[in-house]
Amino acid sequence: MTGNGEKRELNLVVGFYNYSDLQQLERFLEGTGITILSAAQDAQRVFDDAVNLEADVVLLCPQVTGYRPQMIMDLLLHVDRPIPTVGWVEATSDDGRSMVAHGAKGYVTLPMDAHQGNRVVQLLRAAVEEAHRERQRGEVKARPVPSSRLQAWKERVITVWVPKGGGSTRTTLAVNLAVALSHASLGNQPTVLLDFDMAKGDAHTMLGFTANVKHAERHGWPLLERGLFDLVVGLASRWAQGGDSLITPVLLRNYLVRWDEDSQLDLLPGLYFPHQAGAEEFRNRAMIYQMGRRIIEVMRQMYAFVVIDIGQDFTRPLHRAAIEAANEVLVTVPPVWTAVVDTANAMEPLKHHFGSLEKFKLVITRFDPEFGLSEKEIIKEVGLPKLATIPHDAVVAENAVNTHTPYVLTDEGPLGDAVRELAAYYLPYLAEKRKRGLGLFAGLKRAFVRES
Ligand SMILES: Nc1ncnc2c1ncn2[C@@H]1O[C@H](COP(=O)(O)OP(=O)(O)O)[C@@H](O)[C@H]1O
Ligand SMILES: [Mg+2]
Repeated sequence: MTGNGEKRELNLVVGFYNYSDLQQLERFLEGTGITILSAAQDAQRVFDDAVNLEADVVLLCPQVTGYRPQMIMDLLLHVDRPIPTVGWVEATSDDGRSMVAHGAKGYVTLPMDAHQGNRVVQLLRAAVEEAHRERQRGEVKARPVPSSRLQAWKERVITVWVPKGGGSTRTTLAVNLAVALSHASLGNQPTVLLDFDMAKGDAHTMLGFTANVKHAERHGWPLLERGLFDLVVGLASRWAQGGDSLITPVLLRNYLVRWDEDSQLDLLPGLYFPHQAGAEEFRNRAMIYQMGRRIIEVMRQMYAFVVIDIGQDFTRPLHRAAIEAANEVLVTVPPVWTAVVDTANAMEPLKHHFGSLEKFKLVITRFDPEFGLSEKEIIKEVGLPKLATIPHDAVVAENAVNTHTPYVLTDEGPLGDAVRELAAYYLPYLAEKRKRGLGLFAGLKRAFVRES
């Protein structure tokens, strides 16, 4: 057993919410013998890193994406060794007590001041000692974690973004990916598409909805009664009293529309008009940001996948919220120097704002080598790892918009294939099949093409 004077080196995995908190923490841990092995913003990553990197202890903010209280016990009862968790919670919340009730060995509160800085060191050390003592005495027995439970944390928030407006196919990709993830033949993954573009929303139009009574009458398109704008305005009037707690699944369901009965896709329609983001309510940036974060957080608890379409300026509050809350940001870059240069130029400011570029992935979009810019050149210039290439096919893409049928459901060519392959990347069991060589894509394609 470790005596008081002795300082055992401890390895820590951190689940954090705000990058600035993590920076503070790093400062407080300097010279304490506690090393941060990894820091992540989603529960699955925290869990995997804690287990695989042989962490001694976890410091966990319950606002990380995909948090489930059971993960605390799953780590503590891990078969190899106990991995105790210490909570890292907002002082004003009840989260600390709830985490302790679920097995956490105490908690520290945010914001981090010198007092909490000292406490975190003590608590982490005490947590490790207590967990080992319990295990040695057989008070707490190890138990293998059922893999189904881990799967439950595979829920993702995927934001589609690029710093260049127009022709960058953000909305097209967001819509097609969301439809692919939600489609019944892919295993019924409940998915929500949030249209957070503060310039103007397009996703509802692509999916065949309208906010215009005349269009509804003339074309028979389903009429939207409310969307993001109404949600924000409604919340703003009560925000001073209720704040975050106003945003609940029950409230959000009032603003969502189901796309198609065969799918498990819900849409939060975006702004109908470009002037809506100029409304007084939208000028309170701090409030809009907070609303955005909370909406995403609640949606994450309701759906397996949250896909978010945003506009180009990452400092606008809903865009920033969507990027910060995302597990992954898909940066859609077409093979045109204007887009490539804008994206390359955004990398430094992005790093400055979000701390790391780790979750930003390149998706080369509407690609055609004939355009004179190669994939290799784009990757080199932008400097992000490439996740997918979506080929150029204007006929398929425009036809899909005009028929309100995302091409991922109907196109048997390379365009449909590319998005189906991207969707499979997010569906672990399909990826597993692919590894086992079960001809995933042939089967998937057939499953996707709807008979109408
Ligand atoms: N793979 C593709 N090949 C050719 N054109 C495409 C492709 N994907 C989308 N488009 C077209 O590009 C246009 C802009 O797409 P959109 O998704 O609205 O971009 P953004 O949201 O970045 O402004 C649309 O008219 C769409 O049909
Ligand atoms: Mg768009």
